[in-house]
Amino acid sequence: MGEKKQIVLSAIQPSGSMTLGNYLGAIKNWVAMQEEYFCFYALADLHTITVRQNPQEMRKNILDMYALLLACGVDPDKSVFFIQSHVTTHAQLAWLLNCYTQFGELSRMTQFKDKSKKHADNINAGLFTYPSLMAADILLYQADKVPVGADQMQHLELTRNIANRFNGLYGNVFKIPEGFVPKDGARVMSLQTPTSKMSKSDTNINGCVYVLDKPEVIIKKFKRAITDNDAEVRFDIENKPGISNLMTIYSAVTGLNTEQIEKEFAGKGYGDFKASVGEAVIEHLRPVQEKYQQIIKDRAYMEETWKKADAFAQNFSQRTLDKAMKKIGYIK
Ligand code: TRP
Repeated sequence: MGEKKQIVLSAIQPSGSMTLGNYLGAIKNWVAMQEEYFCFYALADLHTITVRQNPQEMRKNILDMYALLLACGVDPDKSVFFIQSHVTTHAQLAWLLNCYTQFGELSRMTQFKDKSKKHADNINAGLFTYPSLMAADILLYQADKVPVGADQMQHLELTRNIANRFNGLYGNVFKIPEGFVPKDGARVMSLQTPTSKMSKSDTNINGCVYVLDKPEVIIKKFKRAITDNDAEVRFDIENKPGISNLMTIYSAVTGLNTEQIEKEFAGKGYGDFKASVGEAVIEHLRPVQEKYQQIIKDRAYMEETWKKADAFAQNFSQRTLDKAMKKIGYIK
């Protein structure tokens, strides 16, 4: 018998469409981690209402994102892929943890500061306490490892502080999780402003590629990608951020390394290169798109899949919640 597998937890918000950046930077890593770890993956739909949502769109986003993650290779036979709002322990532990999290700590969160600027008309308490819900997501599952985007590392540090504080008062209740930014996850930049991260909120729609974009849209976006004035396909983030970004993407979808790519396109123009990257992305996404189309039509399959995962997550997380409540002084 081998050693017990380490536990991984991660989550993604179902707010809008998945970008190529989300896919290459995070989700491909989720899929890979399933082989080595016991993974809990959550659709963090409780988190999304910190920003106002349209109910119809929200329902669609949740279903789309669930189907798309299955299509990307999140495998319900290997991992527990559940919907956060279906598992009651998250909101419950989040409340408890709120009482072990300091106002000052939450005030220092850069995401809170950024989002309060962006949504100045709706700086709600949920936006402020969002990190303690995230801490609950993680601590409920006694996670060893938590892959996150670089922008979430501060929340991870806070989670560790909350867990240490709680354990300091009551003994070992929570595993102290280790957050990390997957190193082989590609950091994909905007095709129009290659010095900033590819994002749905890019002001230029050609900057951001979506996993479900049609092939003709994908190729168009790549053909319009910003490059530079010398005509050499060479990796140099400082001086050639556009070309370097395209190389990163090409590498992620073909498995070729930098040298191989430089060699392949030596003496060729940027036009050829951009078209080749676009084609390679289309080919890479084709099976994902096809699978998504099948799954999204099969609501019964989706429901059956999340119900199984929800029940497992509920049961597993309940043990941690019960323990924490008992330590605090609640009676059964
Ligand atoms: N806050 C994360 C994001 O916006 C999503 C998230 C919610 C998460 N709960 C989590 C990530 C727990 C890792 C672990 O990207």
